[in-house]
Amino acid sequence: MAQTSQAKAQTMRAVALDQFGGPEALKIQDIPVPQIEADEVLIRVEAAGVGAWDPYEREGRFVEIIGIEPKFPYVLGTDGAGTIAAIGKDVSRFKEGDRVYAAALANPKGGFYAQYTAVNEDNVSLIPGNLTIEQAAVLPTDAATALTGLEKVLGLKSGESLMVFGASGGIGHLAIQLAKRLGAKVFAIASGDDGVQFAKRLGADSAVDGRSDDVLNAAREFAPNGIDAALVTAGGKTTDQALAAIRKGGRIAYPHGVMPEPTAPDGVDVEAYDGENSPALIERLNELINSGPFEVQVDETFPLEDASRAHEALREHHLGKIALRID
Ligand SMILES: NC(=O)c1ccc[n+]([C@@H]2O[C@H](COP(=O)([O-])OP(=O)(O)OC[C@H]3O[C@@H](n4cnc5c(N)ncnc54)[C@H](OP(=O)(O)O)[C@@H]3O)[C@@H](O)[C@H]2O)c1
Repeated sequence: MAQTSQAKAQTMRAVALDQFGGPEALKIQDIPVPQIEADEVLIRVEAAGVGAWDPYEREGRFVEIIGIEPKFPYVLGTDGAGTIAAIGKDVSRFKEGDRVYAAALANPKGGFYAQYTAVNEDNVSLIPGNLTIEQAAVLPTDAATALTGLEKVLGLKSGESLMVFGASGGIGHLAIQLAKRLGAKVFAIASGDDGVQFAKRLGADSAVDGRSDDVLNAAREFAPNGIDAALVTAGGKTTDQALAAIRKGGRIAYPHGVMPEPTAPDGVDVEAYDGENSPALIERLNELINSGPFEVQVDETFPLEDASRAHEALREHHLGKIALRID
């Protein structure tokens, strides 16, 4: 065993799949605590993020796309936060008791829907700002995806105008705040009246309801010469209508998974991408979060035992994110 110490418990409670399937396949079970390698930390998970992509992973579609051989019992949960319970022998950045958050996609050691998970230290960070454990738990993948889209894919510059489509969702509500910190003027297309109010509160310069408003007209009023760039987190007819407001030579970015894929008007670059999960990106994210008040919206928190209800809640209108609490 490579670790310098290990949690005393040999087994843990987890929501583990014996086979891929619907929400009913999410079953609470006792399974072994994962062992850590030299470059891993063992996290005592206190909260897990419920990702918009978790149902796809639960149904087995995700492992097919990324081409990995699943091991059962299979523990979902890309994102989470908690306390370091043990460190591998080569780990120098963390010590037992540190409060951390982390993301690990399709982790072969098991995900965050469990009392413990083993994660490579490169994916782990101390919790920034004044975030609660639930806020930190839901943050990493969506925030990294927002920041990758804004800085690396769109190359957003201070003074530029940005459309955020899906602005009241997981990525969207973080993207508004990060884009404001990068100096952009933000036109938010949110879902519902509550979504519009939420987007404005987070700093959007203008916000409209993509479920009922004339988004193209509103976008043209916002930027009569066209909007410079768009970050798109939901696809469909309204998305494509709104994107007609992006200026010639402008840019559109959307993370892989957004369906239907957005259509770019002539003369506009469109790029699908994946959020980066690197120490440098996490450091940049923490720096931006620490530079002022930052809101991570946890709309609802379910106990681990109710993971299937949390998956059902994903399908209903909500602001920001959904979390699981793990005692
Ligand atoms: N490739 C990657 O690296 C990566 C990483 C993270 C996420 N993703 C993918 O990116 C996508 C977005 O993720 P997310 O976490 O942001 O999901 P999300 O929380 O579900 O956000 C999408 C938002 O779009 C809103 N929306 C849908 N139609 C709308 C419309 N016509 N007008 C205004 N808003 C509308 C939804 O609102 P309501 O549902 O409330 O109506 C929701 O708030 C998902 O497909 C996810 O799988 C990919």
